[in-house]
Amino acid sequence: MDKLDLRQGGGAALLSDAASPAHLRIDLWNRVREGVEELARKPSDDRRSELENLFRRLDEVERLWAYPGAERIEQVRRHYRAGDVTQLREVVNDLADRLSQSGDRAALADGAKGARYFTLLLVGTMAPEQLRALRRNLYDLRATRPGDLVYEIVQVASFEEAWLAVMCNVDIQAVVMRQSFPIGAETPLSSPGIRAELAKLVAPLAQSSAPICEALAGALHHLRPELDLYLLTDESLTDESGRAATLFSRVFYRFESPHELHMTVLDGVRARMKAPFFDALREYADRPIGNFHALPIARGHSVFNSRWIDDFGRFYGDNLFMAESSSTAGGLDSLLEPTGSIREAQQLAARCFGARRTFFVTNGTSTANKIVHMALVRPGDIVLIDRNCHKSHHYGLALAGARPVYLDAYPLQRYAIFGGVPLATLKQRLLDLKREGQLARVRLLVLTNVTFDGIVYHPERVMEELLAIHPRLCFLWDEAWFAYGRFLPLMRQRTGMAAARALSEKLASRAYRDEYQAFRSGLGPDGLDGLSDREILQQRLLPDPERARVRVYATQSTHKSLSAFRQGSMIHVWDERFERDAAEPFTEAFFAHTSTSPNHQIVASLDVARKQMELEGFAMVKEAFQLALRMRDRIAGDPLISKYLSVLEQDQLIPEPFRRSGFDRYVHSREVGALERAFAEDEFVLDPTRLTIYTPLTGNNGFEFRSQVLMKALGVQVNHTSINTVLMNATIGVTWGALSFLLDGFRRYAAGLDRRLEQATVEEGRLFEAKVSAITTELPPLPEFSGFHPAFRGSPVGEGDLRAAFFLAFREDAVEHLPLARAEAVLASGRPLVSTRFVVPYPPGFPILVPGQLVSPQILAFMRKLDVKEVHGYRRDLGLAVFTAAALERVQSRAPTAPEPQPAALH
Ligand SMILES: Cc1ncc(COP(=O)(O)O)c(C=O)c1O
Repeated sequence: MDKLDLRQGGGAALLSDAASPAHLRIDLWNRVREGVEELARKPSDDRRSELENLFRRLDEVERLWAYPGAERIEQVRRHYRAGDVTQLREVVNDLADRLSQSGDRAALADGAKGARYFTLLLVGTMAPEQLRALRRNLYDLRATRPGDLVYEIVQVASFEEAWLAVMCNVDIQAVVMRQSFPIGAETPLSSPGIRAELAKLVAPLAQSSAPICEALAGALHHLRPELDLYLLTDESLTDESGRAATLFSRVFYRFESPHELHMTVLDGVRARMKAPFFDALREYADRPIGNFHALPIARGHSVFNSRWIDDFGRFYGDNLFMAESSSTAGGLDSLLEPTGSIREAQQLAARCFGARRTFFVTNGTSTANKIVHMALVRPGDIVLIDRNCHKSHHYGLALAGARPVYLDAYPLQRYAIFGGVPLATLKQRLLDLKREGQLARVRLLVLTNVTFDGIVYHPERVMEELLAIHPRLCFLWDEAWFAYGRFLPLMRQRTGMAAARALSEKLASRAYRDEYQAFRSGLGPDGLDGLSDREILQQRLLPDPERARVRVYATQSTHKSLSAFRQGSMIHVWDERFERDAAEPFTEAFFAHTSTSPNHQIVASLDVARKQMELEGFAMVKEAFQLALRMRDRIAGDPLISKYLSVLEQDQLIPEPFRRSGFDRYVHSREVGALERAFAEDEFVLDPTRLTIYTPLTGNNGFEFRSQVLMKALGVQVNHTSINTVLMNATIGVTWGALSFLLDGFRRYAAGLDRRLEQATVEEGRLFEAKVSAITTELPPLPEFSGFHPAFRGSPVGEGDLRAAFFLAFREDAVEHLPLARAEAVLASGRPLVSTRFVVPYPPGFPILVPGQLVSPQILAFMRKLDVKEVHGYRRDLGLAVFTAAALERVQSRAPTAPEPQPAALH
């Protein structure tokens, strides 16, 4: 069958309030409520015709939801037609209240209120009596077998309605579809935003010969891969391609028993509700167990029986202590060698996050990163790494004995922050290394995706082009902040795992082989070697499918964006060579860094975080995304707030050459398809849920705004600050209530500032302007990576022996401290200065110096201008720690940086 490209079906236009049917529906019900009130007060023909119009529009959207359902809406109409305004008022108020309080759950009978609710979507026209029979059977089964799960059925007739229902009704957990049904709805939805979105989605269907049920299954899978899809067919399908088997969890033939369908649907949802380790831990906590292990806190005896720390026990409650156990003694699984519930939990996580393997880590992504470095890198290997990466990478490299080649991300001078590393820079560094004959030593590329400030890479494009130059390169995407990215299609394509899968499938396809052959013949007999660097940088490269290996790792702080306890982290692996080349070193690295007493509560929370995302990840991330867009609109649209504060936009954080789609701002952006084009094509995009608030027009730098306005006046905690920004995250835990509280606070603060400035004396006004100018236009230039000193440098490409410098720094006779002014004078005299330490100012939080790095005048100037209290690795009282000239000479005379020869098998 044809391969449909359904990547365009992300529904981005429906993510904004204006176009969202979910939003539209609430809005319509509120308007009906108001209309009925007006009618009761003062009946008129105009009011009646307005109400009738609202009813018609409600019919259009309500078909996607189970509650109130067609019958209740008909009841409303009956009261209206009968002119019974009292009844009408009562019913409408009741419906609107229930809807806003509990959504579709309002459909549940009172006896079922404690059960977990979901919606089953039926797609395709059935003869009315057939549908009624199926419905009745399913409802009867539901009634005769009451359980922990109940569902309602929504039936739609077409591809368009089915897709819209799954996009908008987040209670849908399973879809049963007929084999064939029309593309378009009989009565199409009239909202222009929705129509445009649907038109874009169904355009490829017209040219495709694929069965419509498979096309819908593909589109729904793209939207919400976790959903269970079932096919209900009249005839036995001749599924020679085996595609139905991969798209559907199960195929039902016409007259198979409804009982079977009902049980299968429930089983599918239950499979996602399962949290094997958490369930096992709960069971353990309920068992009467005497404890003579070295864990006095287990069961809480040493706490609850204490006269001094019983309040500690009361604060956390019984369960925490009942669930404390040792993996060896408690009969629970072991994180270090999982064979039972942890193993199963990790397998479920791999399925959920689209990885081939997933490993739980209980010491944060700081440790996850070190594990991956140690697993993949051998002493002397070269690692390409963004200098702004989290410090765990730099320490990991020192431990592993790797030679980093530091990469510079593009600078955002106005905000004193860095963006991402451009693809051209990455390609150029690989070409330089190739020219120096060092390519075989290059093992790994490390990038942060998303960056702290919300810059998102295009991992598929990056990996594809770099594998064309170096087919054996491995990739580590630090997704500490991006675990939620998986759950919205728009974002998913930008995650390491989704990109790895897409690339693997592409390289294995026949179509790609043909494409590659055409590309290769276009290069001429010498391939890339026959082209200049410039030519290589300018064209899109394709990797050789025979040689390229897709070897991708992603580390995620589950605790930063999902519902896990602090330090809960995951390593996701899509490595085609894992079993053969990496499994053993990975296990050793995991042993090296993992506590032999891993915290069970953290492991359980990782299991539960996965479960939650498989059931409501789409709903939650979509909500966070929508809230962030709404917040951006409100700040920009508020005349008072926007005088002093703004949220930085795509065009302010991503220079134009990286935005080929032309998409430049989220605020009031309504062009259908623009956002999707940007996410599909642009080199970088901005994650809208990371709200970088620009503060200088308030006269506060980021740090002051955080501490004096946000924390002190509004009681709000934020993520981080730069010199003139504060970063706020719209996570899955954020509510509109919290955001509007913040908006109100901003408004009050802006009004106060307005008054203060109006009443300010000339002198005060001048002081304020000077402060604004200092934090808008007089920022210190961001220093680039200056290079390693020759004593620690390998080839001319400049990879450094970080480890040698790191350990030399502990020899007292090798180190001296210089105050900044003295350092500047020494540098001016011509003596090179070399840092012994990682020097990391907060903010901005990236290492301006690493061990072995040359201190440059720009770095000293930056340090002088930097007005921050916290600079890790630098003591103001002592000065900058540098190597003595004698120590550098000693190192150079021993030339210790020559790499060890590597066994060929490693590459
Ligand atoms: C990009 C990045 N990677 C890794 C980490 C470390 O993660 P964790 O706090 O889970 O150890 C952080 C922490 O802020 C980070 O920002």
